[in-house]
Amino acid sequence: MATQLNLILLGPPGAGKGTQADRLRDDFALPFISTGDMLRANVKAQTQLGQAAKGYMDAGGLVPDDLIVAMARERLAEADAQDGFILDGFPRTVAQADALQAMLATMGRRITVVLLIDVPDEEVVKRISGRRVCAAHGHNYHVDFDPPKVAGICDQDGSELILRDDDKPEVVANRLVVYHKQTSPLIDYYDQRGVLSRVDGTRGPDDVYGHIRAVLSTLSREDDV
Ligand code: AP5
Repeated sequence: MATQLNLILLGPPGAGKGTQADRLRDDFALPFISTGDMLRANVKAQTQLGQAAKGYMDAGGLVPDDLIVAMARERLAEADAQDGFILDGFPRTVAQADALQAMLATMGRRITVVLLIDVPDEEVVKRISGRRVCAAHGHNYHVDFDPPKVAGICDQDGSELILRDDDKPEVVANRLVVYHKQTSPLIDYYDQRGVLSRVDGTRGPDDVYGHIRAVLSTLSREDDV
């Protein structure tokens, strides 16, 4: 499979972006770049960025654009991102999307597709309340919809499954408000640029992935144009 695929996963918190990204990175030789995972790693390591980001994350708000754009710019400049990428959780505001367009333009690159994983708020709440993540690498599970083989243990690396700090109900409610206000304008932004594909995220993870694969198989990639 060609690797020149510059893919963005867009959708509300808990839509299944991380779940689908896990499947995509198993099938495509592409780096998976999740700003949420990068921020959580910084919080864990107590870096300056992590200390600056923690308060926003714990409250369910967005970390300021300048911090996020600097972090993304650095990551996208790394060698492994030159042949394509899967972006999860970035961009999340119009200012971030503009910054990404500018970054890619300087590299002579373009976004291949933005996959909108569409899920209503009630479903988001159900999904997040049952989510468990692996402490070592952030692999995702759900106690009912996508359980691990052994309760509390990650199938992929055997580490403990934990609850995320920002998955408390009151924080989830704020994350949804923030999504509708600050991130959902990106749906029109990318639709107007002709790169948006909608995926019904309410189906099971395998069906959603089947739809994503079908969308990807119809795309022309950078090396085809
Ligand atoms: P981030 O980590 O990006 O969180 P998010 O976008 O809120 O998304 P989630 O990770 O909660 O959900 P997901 O869509 O990946 O769903 P998942 O696959 O886990 O960001 C966290 C925070 O960091 C932000 O709030 C912000 O503060 C900060 N941040 C990050 N990026 C930023 C940026 N660019 N700018 C500013 N701030 C930023 O699935 C959820 C559950 O559902 C799982 O249990 C899963 O097993 C289950 N599930 C998945 N798919 C299905 C399905 N099809 N059917 C049934 N269950 C399913």
